Amino acid sequence: MFESKNKYFGRKKGKSFLRLEQYTKYLVEPKKTLFNKIKTPRILEIGIGDGEKISEDAKSNSKVNFIGCDIFADGVLRAIRNSVDYKLKNLQVFHLNIQELLPLMPDNYFEEIRIYFPDPWPKNRHKKRRTVNQKLVKNLTKKLKKKGFIRFATDHGDYFIEALALMKKSKYTMPNISPKSWEYSDSNALHTKFEKKALDKNHKLFYFSVLKNY
Ligand SMILES: C[S@@+](CC[C@H](N)C(=O)[O-])C[C@H]1O[C@@H](n2cnc3c(N)ncnc32)[C@H](O)[C@@H]1O
Repeated sequence: MFESKNKYFGRKKGKSFLRLEQYTKYLVEPKKTLFNKIKTPRILEIGIGDGEKISEDAKSNSKVNFIGCDIFADGVLRAIRNSVDYKLKNLQVFHLNIQELLPLMPDNYFEEIRIYFPDPWPKNRHKKRRTVNQKLVKNLTKKLKKKGFIRFATDHGDYFIEALALMKKSKYTMPNISPKSWEYSDSNALHTKFEKKALDKNHKLFYFSVLKNY
C-alpha cells in the first residue's frame, strides 16, 4: 500500500478496514506520469473522510475527473470499492497526506479544490496541526488554475476565520458574497459525514468559496 511515511496525527485505519482491506490491491502509486494523463476538468478533495461524497460526485459528474486523498485508509478504500462497483473512470484516490501528493501534481492543474470539515484541532496548543495553514495555501495556489475555486467548510468559527484570512493573504477574491453566504443552507449543504454529525450536534456551520482571479 502506498501511504504517508511522515508524522501526522489521528487514526490511520478504522473499524471497517478489515472489510475493505481486499481493495488495497487497487491502490495506485501516485506518480507525475499518472497525473499528466488525467484530463481536465479536475477537482481535488482533501480529506475525503468516509469516501462517499467524492464517490457520489464522481457518479453524478462523469465528465469531471475527481482526485482525492486522505491519511485515513478506510475512506480511501471505500471510494475504491465504489469506483470498482460502479465502474467509475473519473475517480482517483490516494492514501496519502496532501502535502506529499501536491509536489507530484503539475502546476495550474485544478479547476477546483475542496476542503470539507478538516480536523479542527480546537485546542490552542494543537492548532499548528491544522491541515489548512500558510504552507498548504501557498502550495494549493500553485496547483489551482486561474479562475479556479477553493471551497471550504467547517463547524469551527475560529478555523473559518483563520482559513479565510489565509485566502485573503494569498489574494483570493470572494464572488457572490452576502451575509447569508457563510451559513448552512440548501445551496451550501454538502451532505458529508462530518457535516451531518455537526448538524446533529446543532453546531453552527460555516462555508466559503474563494476565487483565484490571477
Ligand atoms: C473531520 S474529517 C472530514 C471528512 C470529510 N471531508 C467529511 O466532511 O465528512 C477530516 C479528514 O481529513 C483527513 N486528513 C487530515 N489531515 C490530512 C492530510 N494532511 N492530508 C489528507 N487528509 C487529511 C482525516 O484523516 C479525516 O478523514
